[in-house]
Amino acid sequence: MSENNGFFITFEGPEGAGKSSQVAALAEYLTSRGRECILTREPGGTGLAELIRQVVKSHNSGETVHDETELLLMEAARAQHVREKILPALNQNKVVICDRFSDSTRAYQGGARKLPMAVIDYLNDFASAGRKPDLTILLDLSPEAGFARISSREPEGFDRFENEKLDFHRQVRQAFLDTAEAEPERFCVIDATLSKEEISEKIRQVIDAALF
Ligand code: TMP
Repeated sequence: MSENNGFFITFEGPEGAGKSSQVAALAEYLTSRGRECILTREPGGTGLAELIRQVVKSHNSGETVHDETELLLMEAARAQHVREKILPALNQNKVVICDRFSDSTRAYQGGARKLPMAVIDYLNDFASAGRKPDLTILLDLSPEAGFARISSREPEGFDRFENEKLDFHRQVRQAFLDTAEAEPERFCVIDATLSKEEISEKIRQVIDAALF
């Protein structure tokens, strides 16, 4: 069976870590090396999941978004995304590069919102049909440094997550680091205060070792 022979790479990190530009740079690099890849993100990546993204990031009717609701919306978006886009691409031997995935749920809904990690791990597994990333790049940065970066480029204001206090974002960062420490074989942790070029170079080295 040649099912699921692609390679699944996820990027994780706090706000302002520079994931989007590194994701794009990696896609360009892989294409230049002749590997077919798709670039996607969470929450989102399909029509339905992008609708959930808008709700979960920007809902502001005055009605409280309960933490449990937020978790289930993230997982609903993931269930759709994995089945509609990620697994089909992996089954066609493509490299899938995803900007955030289930480790963000552990960090935000687990580490910061304090929902039980056992529930999150169960739902992550259920939503992703048991398909874990092959490699996760964690761009690590303090919330202070991250917010110093995004405050200059968000003229239209912050979303629900960016509006959380610094302490929330400290807990997000710590949960990412704890997950990385628990799974060193899957994670590559990179200091996101390095220059864009230095980060890209480090990512290329990891990718070369894993794929070429
Ligand atoms: P971003 O992709 O622009 O960073 O926005 C996505 C936001 O959603 C970000 O603040 C992290 C948050 N998020 C969660 O809280 N849980 C999740 O499972 C995912 C994928 C994202």
